[in-house]
Amino acid sequence: MAFINENYTKLPSSYLFSDIARKVTEFKTAHPDANIIRLGIGDVTKPLPPAIVEALHKAVDEMADASTFRGYGPEQGYDFLVNTIVENDYKALGLDISSDEIFVSDGSKSDTGNIGDILGLDNIVAITDPVYPVYVDTNVMAGRAGDLQANGKWSEIVYLPCTAENDFVPELPKEKVDIVYLCYPNNPTGTTLTKDQLKVWVDYALKNNVLILFDGAYEAFITEGDVPHSIYEIEGAKEVAIEFRSFSKTAGFTGTRCAYTVVPKALMGYTKSGEKVSLNKLWNRRHTTKFNGVPYIIQRAAEACYSPEGKKQVKDTINYYLTNAKIIREALSTQGLQVVGGINSPYIWVKTPNGMTSWQFFDYLLSELNIVGTPGVGFGPSGEGYLRLTAFGTLENTREAVSRLKKILI
Ligand code: MLT
Repeated sequence: MAFINENYTKLPSSYLFSDIARKVTEFKTAHPDANIIRLGIGDVTKPLPPAIVEALHKAVDEMADASTFRGYGPEQGYDFLVNTIVENDYKALGLDISSDEIFVSDGSKSDTGNIGDILGLDNIVAITDPVYPVYVDTNVMAGRAGDLQANGKWSEIVYLPCTAENDFVPELPKEKVDIVYLCYPNNPTGTTLTKDQLKVWVDYALKNNVLILFDGAYEAFITEGDVPHSIYEIEGAKEVAIEFRSFSKTAGFTGTRCAYTVVPKALMGYTKSGEKVSLNKLWNRRHTTKFNGVPYIIQRAAEACYSPEGKKQVKDTINYYLTNAKIIREALSTQGLQVVGGINSPYIWVKTPNGMTSWQFFDYLLSELNIVGTPGVGFGPSGEGYLRLTAFGTLENTREAVSRLKKILI
């Protein structure tokens, strides 16, 4: 018999969103007639834009023809996609990211989870709290998190609370840390950092030799204010940050799967004896060993997001979700609930009314209003007393949800 990785036994038995899905299924079984509106997991509802569907069809036809058929592609992504990403997501912003710094993958969930493969187990990890659970759970799996304590925190992880008290802006860690996960626009709070606020983090990382793992999965939702689209807009960031970007929420790829990660060549890690090692080289080694590339047809679909029609259609979809976000945010605020997010973001973070816990509010919404949210405490101890709603529903369902939410008595 094989020994197991015992770190897995420390984890709560199921992943947050699996837990919620199970509760919703149980409720649905008990109440088959309930018209449940799902504003829980951040999953998109709009179909793929036509320009992307067209590119998919064309690529499928190529795969059906011996002269254009493709087998294994480059693990890092085909040049046509990598170069398009460089041009549109970086050169267009005046940023100098080169094609060999881009690694196309099947998702930011995988990449933010897998990045730990190339990082030592002794690193001290800091996370903003509340946080996307993947960052914490994958560090538990690796053995970097220590033990779960009664206060809901892992003993070896440094928590950076983001609460109403600090306007949801994390303060710099007081203790020495080696790695910080930042996600902006933020999941789950829907808040953003301005350029100046992000600069504080880059400067801190440069000064203290800290690696920033910057999750920009919701970048496409940035439409107003002085909010950076990439961490590399901040001077020096190429020396301290890895950036994760995704087509999932941008272009409806949650079921199609395509993302990319930027690992700048200037970014160094260290051996215990103090020798510098290129993280780009290490990630390339990992990626080529454990991954065989995103399917050709999917990469053609991702490329189509950047054509003139693709860009316009993607933008329309984003605006559709942002309209939903505005509807939810305004309705909840009008009702007197405390709300953040929903601007430059598909997530709305709402304070539970009447002193309810996150799970009490979740249960109330599900059983009384048949609306599914995500309990804030599922994202970390500082999420207690909050609930996250998403703007990824249809406009009709969002309107219906809002009219039901008006029944909440405060
Ligand atoms: C979420 O709801 O936080 C996201 O859908 C999770 C994900 O993108 O993996």
